[in-house]
Amino acid sequence: MGEPVAVVVGGASGIGAAIATAFENDGWRVVVADLPATDVTDEDSVAALLDGVLASHGRLDCVVNSAGVSTLGQITELAVDEWRRVVDVCLTGAFIVMKHAGQRLSAGGSIISLSSLNGRQPGGGLAPYCASKAGLSMLTEVGALELGPRGIRVNAIAPGLVVTPLTQPAMEIPGIEADYLENTPLGRSGTPEEIAEAAVYLAKAQWVTGEVLDINGGAHLMRYPDLHKHVLAAFG
Ligand SMILES: NC(=O)c1ccc[n+]([C@@H]2O[C@H](COP(=O)([O-])OP(=O)(O)OC[C@H]3O[C@@H](n4cnc5c(N)ncnc54)[C@H](O)[C@@H]3O)[C@@H](O)[C@H]2O)c1
Repeated sequence: MGEPVAVVVGGASGIGAAIATAFENDGWRVVVADLPATDVTDEDSVAALLDGVLASHGRLDCVVNSAGVSTLGQITELAVDEWRRVVDVCLTGAFIVMKHAGQRLSAGGSIISLSSLNGRQPGGGLAPYCASKAGLSMLTEVGALELGPRGIRVNAIAPGLVVTPLTQPAMEIPGIEADYLENTPLGRSGTPEEIAEAAVYLAKAQWVTGEVLDINGGAHLMRYPDLHKHVLAAFG
């Protein structure tokens, strides 16, 4: 059967790309999936991806879902379509990946989702993202309960600030990065590689399930930056 096989959905960029590299360095065969060939909001596309991996590699050991999008806007201003766009990828997409991974994994396998510091810490202007990630953290716990009896583990990682194409635009607004770092006991942002190490750990940790692992330099102990204040200061 050879080396274990991991699929990294949303693996073309940022944290997902680092996770794919970390799994490769750890001796896994890795399949990277991302838009446009795989769309987490499209159930058929996720099913076809995982069926294709099983057909070509003969086994499936870990499915990582790193797909994510965000938006910035106050609740009273936010278009419902924009709310739906973010929830569709970050929460419904995570459900679809979990559903189809759960159908195909066997005992010893695991699912790892990317939640966020925003799953437990509210950020003004980030309602659909925060609500999705809080939902994803709970989905992880329910998934662990349901799939545990089949020997399948379900975990999530909740990163704090990691500068990637997702977060770079916010870093360009004066004050935001400094506010983050002032509210991070370890005083720096994380790297995609630091998140990826945890994914490799969770993929192998045979007695860990239902865990949402905070990796954020201690930022969950303080407060989330006041994004709205910085946006108003920058753009009026
Ligand atoms: N960067 C951070 O500070 C941070 C913090 C907490 C959580 N996260 C989470 O980590 C994950 C990865 O974020 P990142 O910072 O690497 O962002 P990123 O933008 O670099 O990567 C996200 C990837 O998801 C893919 N994607 C988006 N919509 C998709 C869809 N419908 N189907 C399939 N793939 C899709 C994108 O094409 C992209 O390759 C996300 O879930 C994000 O919410 C990131």
